[in-house]
Amino acid sequence: EKIYVGADIGGTTIKVGICNVEGVLIQTYEGPTGVEVGTDEIINNIAKYARHIVEESPYAWEQVAGVGIGIAGFLDIPNGFVKHSVNLGLRNVKLRDILEEKLQKEVRINNDANVAALGEAWGGAGKGVPNCVCYTLGTGVGGGIIINGKIIEGFSGMAGELGHMQIVPDLEAIQCGCGKMGCLETVSSATGIIRMAKDAVARGDRTSLSLVEDIMAKDVVDAAKAGDEVAIRIVNRAAFYLGKSLAAVAIVLNPQRFIIGGGVSKAGDFLFDQIREVFQKLTPDIAQEGVEIVPAELGNNAGVVGAAGLLIN
Ligand code: BGC
Ligand code: NA
Ligand code: ZN
Repeated sequence: EKIYVGADIGGTTIKVGICNVEGVLIQTYEGPTGVEVGTDEIINNIAKYARHIVEESPYAWEQVAGVGIGIAGFLDIPNGFVKHSVNLGLRNVKLRDILEEKLQKEVRINNDANVAALGEAWGGAGKGVPNCVCYTLGTGVGGGIIINGKIIEGFSGMAGELGHMQIVPDLEAIQCGCGKMGCLETVSSATGIIRMAKDAVARGDRTSLSLVEDIMAKDVVDAAKAGDEVAIRIVNRAAFYLGKSLAAVAIVLNPQRFIIGGGVSKAGDFLFDQIREVFQKLTPDIAQEGVEIVPAELGNNAGVVGAAGLLIN
């Protein structure tokens, strides 16, 4: 029996998993990424955890048909290259070739949000829906486009980098980690929400958040739910630009379903109602017929399942 190893490389942890040929997740393991130590440490950890999870499993390394990697950042997917990952501090790393050498297995790499979208499409909120677009709202804003059941990569691998859609008007725009102004990620990521909250407190706005020591995105969402006007404005702003981005994507790709995951999506209806309202306001009526906006279902496992899925079929 063949097995597939998937790895989801996050800023703090690397999660690895074993899937069978149907893409069913059998086992997972998680360890620190080692970003503080540097590039070699990250690569060594990926290889180490991949071997480790198989050792701990009832399977033998010989049964591993390949290793799939989901990693945040701008990639050259056809060449297995990480061009720039801001959050992981990687620049121009031949990740695929290095890992193939270390593991002596076929390795495929793809973007973290692309593989999360593939995972959701297979066994989560996109099951049975061949055309869907996934957003992940975390440290950054990730995007993954699934058309006819397959990831859309574009010619060099940059398709679906929805967090860098230029969406905030110039007067309000701030600079993104990518170097450009007004990216969706600057307002709709957890990082963006935290920044807006800290700015409000620093400005002296009247908000319960001024009593919170180290503001997290969840604090802002909780305060908004409790009726804090400043927090409501921040969450609405995150939802507004996200809804605006969905409207733009709807008219380009006409996906049947938008799937929204990542930590910030746990805000639930409070966020989703806003996104739906904006989407409805901005999208031509006929273009929104039958289009659904739903939360992700696989949570933290979408990435490993989708990464393993890069090698299945
Ligand atoms: C990166 C994407 C990534 C997303 C979520 C963005 O800043 O550009 O590649 O998918 O964050 O991790
Ligand atoms: Na992507
Ligand atoms: Zn950007």
